Amino acid sequence: MTPTAPGATPRHYLMCEPLHYTVSYEINPWMDQTRFTDTDLAVSQWRRLRDVYLDLGHTVETIEPIPGLPDMVYAANGATVVDGIVYSAKFRYPERGPEGPAYQKWFADRGFVTHTASSVNEGEGDMLVAGNLLLAGTGFRTTRDAHAEAQALFNRPVVTLELVDARYYHLDTALAIISSDPASTQVAYYPPAFSPASRAVLGQLFPDAIVATDEDAAALGLNAVSDGEHVVVAPGARDLAAALRERGYEPIPVDTTELLKGGGGAKCCTLEIRSA
Ligand code: ARG
Repeated sequence: MTPTAPGATPRHYLMCEPLHYTVSYEINPWMDQTRFTDTDLAVSQWRRLRDVYLDLGHTVETIEPIPGLPDMVYAANGATVVDGIVYSAKFRYPERGPEGPAYQKWFADRGFVTHTASSVNEGEGDMLVAGNLLLAGTGFRTTRDAHAEAQALFNRPVVTLELVDARYYHLDTALAIISSDPASTQVAYYPPAFSPASRAVLGQLFPDAIVATDEDAAALGLNAVSDGEHVVVAPGARDLAAALRERGYEPIPVDTTELLKGGGGAKCCTLEIRSA
């Protein structure tokens, strides 16, 4: 019998059109200022991603892109929203600093209760909801202090995971939540991106996890977005797509190669708004 996915649930996403996208500084190993970036192509890939979400029946809201903030397209870094509570981002590098208040204002203007972070954290890039747990990355961007802050704010247990490979500098580049349903949580991850201790923790928490291959990881395939059934994933992550299909999920390949030049994929461009 073919296993079935837990099933799609409607999602609410915030995205930022890459109208000012370019690579004008280098804060991760994917970024190379000397390489040409095609803003129009980035915009058309982004629109296709948004349209895929809309066709799946999800709600997509947008925040106005600000000139001079080329990484603002990576909305996942803008905040973490759990149970309708907004934990603001506080960026590691000054180049992205103004994005934190810009995203926080977007939420405050819409009546959300927002909490201004005291610790460096890059939003959902490093904080992923897995059932009742919050998986939190550290090592390159988000600090352990931020994990403690998030635990106190959201009242959810936080599991600290240490990232050790600079190419996978945010947790959402090394681990994907395939099902966040507490009864059938499913994740996919790339073990070499984690310290041995964190690998052991992941093995205990998720013995049935999908283990991504080198090729999946290098295509940023773990930067995937799942609604519990459909999984938007980079086309280069072939092994991951096959593993998803085997487990009853439907992979939907969406090309985000132009946004990969900044070090991000589909998940980086997508901030999930989780209501109370
Ligand atoms: N250029 C951005 C940075 O290095 C990419 C962010 C990718 N976002 C993510 N959620 N992984 O900060």
